[in-house]
Amino acid sequence: MTTQRDPNQVVIFDTTLRDGEQCPGATMNLHEKLEVARQLARLRVDVIEAGFPIASPGDYEAVRAIAEAVQGPTIAALARIKEADIERAGKAIEPAARRRIHTFSSGSDIHLEAMMRMTRAKNIEKSVAAVTFARSFTDDVEYSAQDTTRSDRSYLVDLYTAVAEAGATTLNVPDTVGYASPEEFGDLIAFLVASVKVPGVIFSVHCHNDLGLAVANSLAAVKAGARQVECTINGIGERAGNCSLEEVVMAMRTRGDAYQVFTGINTREIIRSSRLVSRMTGMVVQRNKAIVGANAFAHESGIHQDGMLKNRETYEIMVPEDVGLSGTELVLGKHSGRHALTNHLTQMGFTLSDEEMGRVYDAFKELCDKKKVVYDDDLIALVQDQSSDMPQVYQLGTVQVTTGTRAVPTATVTLRRDSEEMTDAACGDGPVDATFRVIDRITGVEGTLEDFSLQAITKGEDAVGEVSVRVRYGDSVINAKGSSTDIVEASAKAYINALNRYLFLKSHHELKEEQDVTVAEQP
Ligand code: KIV
Ligand code: ZN
Repeated sequence: MTTQRDPNQVVIFDTTLRDGEQCPGATMNLHEKLEVARQLARLRVDVIEAGFPIASPGDYEAVRAIAEAVQGPTIAALARIKEADIERAGKAIEPAARRRIHTFSSGSDIHLEAMMRMTRAKNIEKSVAAVTFARSFTDDVEYSAQDTTRSDRSYLVDLYTAVAEAGATTLNVPDTVGYASPEEFGDLIAFLVASVKVPGVIFSVHCHNDLGLAVANSLAAVKAGARQVECTINGIGERAGNCSLEEVVMAMRTRGDAYQVFTGINTREIIRSSRLVSRMTGMVVQRNKAIVGANAFAHESGIHQDGMLKNRETYEIMVPEDVGLSGTELVLGKHSGRHALTNHLTQMGFTLSDEEMGRVYDAFKELCDKKKVVYDDDLIALVQDQSSDMPQVYQLGTVQVTTGTRAVPTATVTLRRDSEEMTDAACGDGPVDATFRVIDRITGVEGTLEDFSLQAITKGEDAVGEVSVRVRYGDSVINAKGSSTDIVEASAKAYINALNRYLFLKSHHELKEEQDVTVAEQP
């Protein structure tokens, strides 16, 4: 069971791979989910909610693979209050040393009547039966009633008391629609903690960010006695997302005086976790996002810079190193050997196979030819580019563009598929458009670009640029990224990554749309 060692410890329950993955376009395949889960273990989250096994065979396999491979955190699987869901969840988490079933129903009349078509009494009866059944698979069972912030409080007391008496060890209180204000939510948690008189249970909260209040609501809940917070890396999730892990954790740490609690999170892994999730989901992190945005620790104005030089504490409430941003960024260059690179990457926390290391070293040497100074952030992008074990159906060979004030932008692209090389050329509205058109022509798969953005990963004119694309293939929307010192090359890589991801998901029938319609609705 996920034991809370100290009454002031807040359990961090990460749902990036379940609620986070539910947001449009953020679908990850099994390999990507495994990479994220391994990173979450390095971040030392207490619980990883690995998925919703009944939703699709792909979800089941991913949860099972994570339960087999990832050591440390408790592995949780989501299940409705149905026997088939619970059985599937129980089977998926079987290989994990610590395992949890998270079963959920609803608390509000609008959900019970309109969606579940159930009376309040029937809901209690079925929830109790579900918890009892879940306990036959594990002694760590979490129960959630969706939409608590629009539910009748005295009914919530009856419901939570009944499931706790049936063996639920964590009682999760979701603000499913992101409706609560911090004052109200804190009050609701204090009321439930005082009214549900079953010893030993942990109260948990799960806040959505529709009004931008998910972190504030979670913190208010902690003040009122909640000792588990459900959150996601970069705050990704349904609609406006979930409570952001990095924000809630750093708030509790930086303002320990105000909250009087602590977490077991290794905060130095925060930046790496954020970048990895952004890369795997293709969801860009806004520059001014607290803690992990590119500007979060940048001091631009003269007065601020002056103060910082005299004493960092004048304008800095957190040390960048605490979240994993290294102060000494200049690392390696053209003359660094493979050994030095391996050592540095190990110090940064990467464990790469010999084959991955070979690819990373070749890419590093190529980067050194284009860029004088290689920063840690460049290395992170490079490792993440080279170490993904998702099958690459197409690979970029070369891309050349001709453009100018009077010339029609033309791109010539060579792609590789197994040992075959294919070259073609096309014109477009601009060099990037022309490049995407050639890729469509060579592969015979037509994508529609829905979103495109470019961010410089590091400083300077020779900075590595990271391109994020959102591409539609029929009914499916795929996010992907690519990086290079050359913008057109970065764009081509991102577009090819989107295509490879689409082809992979299609061949494994893992597309979200199919899951949603054919097997189970997502909560
Ligand atoms: O938002 C929600 O209510 C959920 C539950 C399944 C916890 O995601
Ligand atoms: Zn949710």
